[in-house]
Amino acid sequence: MAHVVIINGTNSESSRIQGVQQYIEQHVEEARSIEVYKLPAQALVTADYTNEVIQAANRLIEQAQVIIILTPVYKASYTGILKTFLDLIPQKGLENKVILPIMVGGSAHHLLVIEYALKPVLSVLGATTILQGVYLIDQSIERTAHGFTIQEEARERLQSQLQKLRKEPIFLS
Ligand SMILES: Cc1cc2nc3c(=O)[nH]c(=O)nc-3n(C[C@H](O)[C@H](O)[C@H](O)COP(=O)(O)O)c2cc1C
Repeated sequence: MAHVVIINGTNSESSRIQGVQQYIEQHVEEARSIEVYKLPAQALVTADYTNEVIQAANRLIEQAQVIIILTPVYKASYTGILKTFLDLIPQKGLENKVILPIMVGGSAHHLLVIEYALKPVLSVLGATTILQGVYLIDQSIERTAHGFTIQEEARERLQSQLQKLRKEPIFLS
C-alpha cells in the first residue's frame, strides 16, 4: 500500500473542497492530510522553513508516494495559501511521486486551470507523473446538514482518477 498524502489548499472550514477530502479519505485507505489553513500562518507568510509544524508536514510529503492536491479556484488559479505552502516544499520535493490534482471552481470557465496554473508548479517541484486530475464545479457538491453530498457524475470522475492511481506501480508495490 502506497503512502498517500492529501494537501488541502482551501482556506475555509466549510469549503466544498472539504467534501472532496472526506470522499477521498473514505475511499483511499490510510490517507494522511495536510490542511494548509491549519498550518501556522506566520510561518507560511514568512516562508519559515525552520518551523516545526511546517517541517512535520514536509516529512509527510517526503514519505508519501502519492500526493493528492485539493484546492478551490481563486482568481483563475489555485489559492494563495496553497502557494505559500508549495513554496515551502524543498526543491524537487515531489520527485518520484504520483500526483493527483483536484480543483473545484464556481463555474466551468476555468476548466483548464489545472493545466495552466497548477501543473507547471508541480513540475518545478520535480513531479513527472501527474494524473489528468479532476475539475468540479460548485453545483456538483451540495452542502447538507450532515456535511456534503457529491453528485453521481462528479463521484464517477473522482473514482475514475482514483482507479488510475491504484493502477500506478508505486501504489501497488
Ligand atoms: C476569492 C475567490 C475567488 C474566486 N475565483 C474564482 C475563479 O476565478 N473562477 C471560478 O470558477 N471560481 C472562482 N471562485 C469560486 C470558487 O472557486 C468556488 O466557489 C469554490 O468551490 C470555492 O467554494 P467554497 O466556498 O465551497 O470553498 C472564487 C471564490 C473566491 C472566494
